[in-house]
Amino acid sequence: MNRRKILVTSALPYANGAIHLGHLVEYIQTDIWVRFQKMQGHDCQYVCADDTHGTPIMLRAEKEGITPEELINRVHGEHSRDFAGFLVNFDNYYTTHSDENRWFCEDIYTQLKAAGLIEVRSIEQYYDPVKEMFLPDRFIKGECPKCGAKDQYGDNCESCGAAYTPSDLKDPYSAVSGAKPVMRASEHHFFRLSDARCQAFLREFTRREGVLQPEAANKMQEWLGAEGEDKLSDWDISRDSPYFGFQIPGAPGKFFYVWLDAPIGYFGSLRNLAARTPGLDENTYTRPGSDAEMYHFIGKDILYFHALFWPAMLEHAGYRVPTKIFAHGFLTVDGAKMSKSRGTFITAESYLKQNLNPEWLRYYYAAKLNGSMEDLDLNLTDFVARVNSDLVGKYINIASRCAGFVSKRFEGKLAAVGTNEVVMALRGAATLIQECFEQRDFARALREVMLLADQANGYIANAAPWVMAKQEGREAELHAVCTEALEMFRLLTLYLKPVLPKLAAEVETFLAVPPLSWSDVATPLPEGHRINDYKHLMTRLDPKQVEALVEANRESLAPTAPAVVPPKAAESQQRHAEHQQHVAQAAGEPPSPRPSPGMGEGASCGLSGGPLSPEIGIDDFSKLDLRIARIVNAEHVEGAAKLLKLTLDIGEEKPRQVFAGIKSAYDPATLVGRLTVMVANLAPRKMKFGMSEGMVLAASGEGPGLFILSPDEGAQPGMRVK
Ligand code: 2FM
Ligand code: ZN
Repeated sequence: MNRRKILVTSALPYANGAIHLGHLVEYIQTDIWVRFQKMQGHDCQYVCADDTHGTPIMLRAEKEGITPEELINRVHGEHSRDFAGFLVNFDNYYTTHSDENRWFCEDIYTQLKAAGLIEVRSIEQYYDPVKEMFLPDRFIKGECPKCGAKDQYGDNCESCGAAYTPSDLKDPYSAVSGAKPVMRASEHHFFRLSDARCQAFLREFTRREGVLQPEAANKMQEWLGAEGEDKLSDWDISRDSPYFGFQIPGAPGKFFYVWLDAPIGYFGSLRNLAARTPGLDENTYTRPGSDAEMYHFIGKDILYFHALFWPAMLEHAGYRVPTKIFAHGFLTVDGAKMSKSRGTFITAESYLKQNLNPEWLRYYYAAKLNGSMEDLDLNLTDFVARVNSDLVGKYINIASRCAGFVSKRFEGKLAAVGTNEVVMALRGAATLIQECFEQRDFARALREVMLLADQANGYIANAAPWVMAKQEGREAELHAVCTEALEMFRLLTLYLKPVLPKLAAEVETFLAVPPLSWSDVATPLPEGHRINDYKHLMTRLDPKQVEALVEANRESLAPTAPAVVPPKAAESQQRHAEHQQHVAQAAGEPPSPRPSPGMGEGASCGLSGGPLSPEIGIDDFSKLDLRIARIVNAEHVEGAAKLLKLTLDIGEEKPRQVFAGIKSAYDPATLVGRLTVMVANLAPRKMKFGMSEGMVLAASGEGPGLFILSPDEGAQPGMRVK
């Protein structure tokens, strides 16, 4: 087999807002594709990070009375929790505020400068004399020059839709301090996209076969203009102090604009991963001349950054350019933009807290994703119907109707899988389903899988094993039918595994088979193989759960914050709006803005872990001996529903054995090698499965989810935590 080397990214979410169901369209889409590639046996790295720099993050931290570093660290934890909750399995989830990223930014800038593609020139911009800072467009408000609506942003009017520049606003004021802004000149660094080399390269790059979806390629040609028209203008890549970001080398008081360092963050995350992954050479992915592939999954609104600016930067700084860029549409809920007042602006955290199964949403999204840039609608009624009829009614049903007979009548042992027609059809569909996944047409892949599930159910209904079970002398037949049905179930599970990884792992345990990979299509369950007892694999989705979710996210229409505070100064809106201006100048038509998250929406205020325990003194606390432990081994415990057996190294002669109730949240394989925190002086406890010599700490709240702790980099096994 040709083992491909593939680097995959999803767009980096801003470090000042909660992950919501709109974001998840992209992360779930990417995760499914990555899991599919890994099941093929390819060497696939999925990297991402928080997008941490820029004015809104700086101001947000200030408003909260914390440093930007504190803000981004907290949000990193929240984002990591939400992604894990939806089974989005990054190989690295890093931050753009890192030494690795700084290195790449400086290198790319230096190379572009050496190539004569950086120009410094003075521009005039609105400046807030009270706050002593230049104001991004989104932080300037005033009266719309077209319709006269008050309190409109500096880039476009929410009332009449007009697009303009901040200097067109009547009676402008700073949304930060309320002061009247003044025009002030300052030097800015520009990436000279108007240079003939950039225009020529981008014209060629955006026309390369398959690099962009046809719709995206057309849009790019529009933005680039006809041959000789050269519509792209230079890109302002610097911002003045105060700014949270990286200083530009040799330019005191000037910082890289966050949209310069954000995509470079893909490489920063890769370098950080490579540093701890034997055999992973970052140059394979970052430098030209290798056969490695690089794919970016993004929303259609940030195509111009990924299809124009980013490749131009890479190409002219001596790096490799993306293999393909996969853009997707926006999420609507019940046919409309997500809305807080309707309760359809649903955060990832609230979905998990309401005990909804993340795999329901993964399945629903997958069933609607076809690799195009069309918007995707989460129709809540259809969501319930589809999950219940496809997953529970068709797929799970196959196992639940047959497994019991195998356990009760044949000691859990299987007969021989024969040449059953449906099994053959299932096996024969592997190539088609594989192709659909590869092309990101998950909708078609799942349609094929469900048609096959229909055939499997038809076979079972016809054979009626429950009738055979009551008739004497039909044991062999019953055994054969149930065996065939379970082989069908195994194959369906294999095809669904990229979408439903947790369920697939449970099925693997039930069928007592090693983790399924694509090549296992050809290897049926062997005769005499013993399966485990069937345990219920998935519950039905009750429409009441969806109603409760919407209620939990519904916000009243009470008056919001005072006018001087930008009510939705989302980093995205600001950046997109700023960019919109750039593109509008270049192409005469602004790209459509996307529904985007507001700052910090979804943050909960109560203590999710319940009220605080009674106060203790320091003496009580110091009785606890908490140590950093390396998990040297983790495994399931036969017969234990909740426990994993961990082997923990805290620097003692012999590692400790600890039983931890974290099975619901962790696949043991993902724990091996990582550091965590344990209570090392807890008296050993004899449990049903053996001695437990300590305790691993884990966080949990009212909702689902269990989170063990990780120390910061540098901590070593045996270090005391106090
Ligand atoms: O639009 C956004 O949400 C940005 N934070 C995406 C950045 S993607 C990449 F360029 F880093
Ligand atoms: Zn207006």
